[in-house]
Amino acid sequence: MSREPNERVELTTERLLLRPFEIGDVGDVLAYASDPELARFLDLPQPYTSDDAEEYVAHRLLDDWSSEATFAIVWERHVIGSIALHVNAQDEVAALGYALARWMWGRGIVPEAGRAVIDWGFDAYALHKIYSRADVRNRQSWRVMEKLGMSREGVLRGYRKVRGEHVDDVCYGILREEWERAHGDSA
Ligand SMILES: CC(C)(COP(=O)(O)OP(=O)(O)OC[C@H]1O[C@@H](n2cnc3c(N)ncnc32)[C@H](O)[C@@H]1OP(=O)(O)O)[C@@H](O)C(=O)NCCC(=O)NCCS
Repeated sequence: MSREPNERVELTTERLLLRPFEIGDVGDVLAYASDPELARFLDLPQPYTSDDAEEYVAHRLLDDWSSEATFAIVWERHVIGSIALHVNAQDEVAALGYALARWMWGRGIVPEAGRAVIDWGFDAYALHKIYSRADVRNRQSWRVMEKLGMSREGVLRGYRKVRGEHVDDVCYGILREEWERAHGDSA
């Protein structure tokens, strides 16, 4: 593997650039993340302020990419969302997380970004499995996981407490061999 463990990378897809966050992205992050509809199933501060956006981007600049790889999703030179892999190297698994500006929903953007990140992640981190979890009521997120070829593995009851409410999470996952079967040996 030629990549250094903490190296930051860029990926391109048919319509998107996926790149590490930059300090100049604060305004774009505030624009999409301050939408209460986006935050409906997420553990984001409410209301979401420019301080929150600044703190978010600052953390992304400090992330150690040997375990935390967060890509800004760039569309026509604007950041419209994020997609991340949280890697557990010991177990060779990673969690995939994502959020997209509401004005871009329904165009298959996150499935497109997710395919690129999963393809890259299996190889870059020598992973055995990539999984994702969502509030069980978040059907939009189920659909993304299904489109990525993940299997539904079950529901974790009362798994998180979000804004005072106990939330059930649904889990989806895909094994490396399943990804390779579906996408050739690119993983
Ligand atoms: C979940 C999310 C990432 C989906 O991204 P996306 O790029 O819009 O994904 P898709 O275009 O494949 O759409 C997924 C589903 O969303 C639903 N959807 C599409 N447009 C929608 C809209 N304007 N409003 C509500 N739901 C919509 C559809 O059910 C669609 O499935 P379908 O293609 O089978 O009809 C995005 O909705 C989002 O960022 N939501 C808020 C943050 C979040 O919940 N993140 C996931 C946390 S686990």
